[in-house]
Amino acid sequence: MRSKLSLLLFASLSAFVNAEVTVYTSSTDSAAAAHYTVASTDQTILQAPAPPGDFNPAFFVQLYDGGMTGMSNPVGGALLGFSIELSVAAMLMGEKPAVIRPEFLNYCALLEARGGSVTIRVGGNTQDKATLNMDGNPNGHTIQKYKGNDASKTETPEVHFTPDLLLTMAEISKLVNANWFFGIPFVNNNADGNAALVLQNAKSTLGKNLLGLQMANEPDLYSMNQKKSSDYDIPAFMADTTYMINNLTIQDPILAGPSPCCFWSIGQLLDAGYLTQFQPQLKYIDVMHYPDNNCAQPKVDPQTKYTRYVSHHEVQNLVAPYLEASNAAVAAGKQFMMMETNTASCGGFPGISDGFASALWATDYALQMAYGNFTYGLIHFGGQNVYYNPFTPPPTNMTKVRQWNTGAIFYAQLIAAEALGKTGNARVIDLYVDNNSDSRAGYAIYENGVATRLLFVNYVQPTVPNANDYIVTFAVGGGQTNLPAITPATVKVKYLRADSINSKDNITWAGQTFGAQFQSDGRLQGDLDVVEILCNAADGTCNVPVPGPSVALVFLSDAAMASSGADITQAETFATTVTTGKAVPSMDQAALMSSNGRSGGDPLGTTSKSSSKDSSATLRSTVGSAWIWGVSVSVSFALAKLLL
Ligand SMILES: *[C@@H]1O[C@H](CO)[C@@H](O)[C@H](O)[C@H]1NC(C)=O
Ligand SMILES: *[C@@H]1O[C@H](CO)[C@@H](O)[C@H](O)[C@H]1NC(C)=O
Ligand SMILES: *[C@@H]1O[C@H](CO)[C@@H](O)[C@H](O)[C@H]1NC(C)=O
Ligand SMILES: *[C@@H]1O[C@H](CO)[C@@H](O)[C@H](O)[C@H]1NC(C)=O
Ligand SMILES: *[C@@H]1O[C@H](CO)[C@@H](O)[C@H](O)[C@H]1NC(C)=O
Repeated sequence: MRSKLSLLLFASLSAFVNAEVTVYTSSTDSAAAAHYTVASTDQTILQAPAPPGDFNPAFFVQLYDGGMTGMSNPVGGALLGFSIELSVAAMLMGEKPAVIRPEFLNYCALLEARGGSVTIRVGGNTQDKATLNMDGNPNGHTIQKYKGNDASKTETPEVHFTPDLLLTMAEISKLVNANWFFGIPFVNNNADGNAALVLQNAKSTLGKNLLGLQMANEPDLYSMNQKKSSDYDIPAFMADTTYMINNLTIQDPILAGPSPCCFWSIGQLLDAGYLTQFQPQLKYIDVMHYPDNNCAQPKVDPQTKYTRYVSHHEVQNLVAPYLEASNAAVAAGKQFMMMETNTASCGGFPGISDGFASALWATDYALQMAYGNFTYGLIHFGGQNVYYNPFTPPPTNMTKVRQWNTGAIFYAQLIAAEALGKTGNARVIDLYVDNNSDSRAGYAIYENGVATRLLFVNYVQPTVPNANDYIVTFAVGGGQTNLPAITPATVKVKYLRADSINSKDNITWAGQTFGAQFQSDGRLQGDLDVVEILCNAADGTCNVPVPGPSVALVFLSDAAMASSGADITQAETFATTVTTGKAVPSMDQAALMSSNGRSGGDPLGTTSKSSSKDSSATLRSTVGSAWIWGVSVSVSFALAKLLL
């Protein structure tokens, strides 16, 4: 049965889609491919961290009917969303409202089907000096980059975008339930009226799908990256924010701020009065944080970083510093969110950010953010030259031989959406399983007082097969209590598996996969494989095996499964075979190759002025990665100067 969504897409694109159906070349031209290496095609395989010496193969979890002490506020299934660098937004989503990339829609539709909606932020380092060109860009593209006057200092290009960007976003929201954050250019205090224009257009174009406007981006770096004076401090930022709110006459609670990343803590900003002073205009208190960075030159050995991403304690440590602020925000009637995050800034680490470990880590991190009363945590996308993207289109000249690459971390987004579901009412608790073991994580999700789902992570890559599988025994009531047991008679379990914690290919979520690298159209392939477990009626307990490494999502009822779309099929997503055709949008090579993805310093790769050697090349490609009207392109991937 064709879903409402794909019908809509077909209708909206049929005006220009040639009736001819595209058949993908599934064979990769490996000779050509081999010559083309950017971070997103890196094949580094690291050595898996050793299993812990004291591995406990079984533990017990006591759950209570009605809820658990310390569980979070209710949260929705769109928690783990996307943060898209403004400069790469058209490359990823589509160049024009009539030319939306179906793969992008497919990924969104998968999340919507599970979590009810998808959260997408467009902004980042380039938002601060972005100009909205109402009359279009000289080169005809939606996003055009200029070296700013101070490009010699920051090497960050200025982005000029057209209303088509916002119109494309609005069109996406008609096809999938996407809700947006958009960045307001902050640094020149609306001196030219541009910030006001961006604000008005974002509001009017996105309407009810606009969640919030991000005011300022990493202001704690403004002195370093020379967006502001070298003595720029918190009082100066508070004054600028006051000025902007007044100048833009913002009255409604629509803002997300203050978005610090690196040098100012959220506590310092709240102490300076950010929350109280801007209470009427704020809807979200937000932060940005990456646990590590890959900015140093020469590059660090990623092997030395691996253990950090297979550790529940490290995940707890990521969220703990924000708990005071998140609870203060909630107490003030605001929401708290992580506007931008990923495995490591400056593009991530090869072998970690693009491997199965990142899926385990991000699943744990998402649930930990939910437990910490975050409403959203948005996973950042850079361009081609980063390791960490949830998904990446092929380089333009490779669209004939390659499809999209689904990153391991995208599987975590699917799982987080299913774990939290569509009710908007999920309350999460970290169970500190096995005496808060570092190599495993366990969470319970309650909805309306009923335990509906459990999620377990096993981070351990065994050296002897199955030596590091564990079994969770749980009971709802009963067990170690004097309460009656209401443990279900059966539970259903979906597993996230891969050949190894290093795998970049063929990761499976309940048997379904995006397949091998560079072979994805954003749809799950294969049959759904859900494991049913019979619980022990005699003592009201239930045993769930959790192999190493894996994630296990346990559904305590069929209703809990249905309300998180855990049983959906791929028929509900967009078929690229229907939507790829002969439309010929042109793609700005500079935008395509740009790679920002830096929180806490200057951008990586080709947003630097020296790295896109041939930004004037006119490339034409069809929607959805099919054809190129080829013109030679020469791009080099110079390493940008990095600040940290
Ligand atoms: C905002 O700033 C601009 C540019 O300085 C100025 O022209 C305008 O009058 C200001 N508007 C308000 C409401 O202060
Ligand atoms: C989240 O908020 C709830 C309700 O205010 C509170 O009881 C809980 O302690 C908070 N969670 C954390 C981890 O701080
Ligand atoms: C639980 O962990 C704590 C902290 O590591 C340790 O001190 C304690 O002995 C552990 N308890 C058990 C029962 O293993
Ligand atoms: C992934 O699966 C495909 C299809 O089954 C197979 O051809 C390919 O070799 C697998 N890749 C790896 C790295 O195992
Ligand atoms: C794509 O462009 C890169 C960089 O110029 C080149 O190395 C590669 O061979 C090209 N691939 C194809 C299929 O043309």
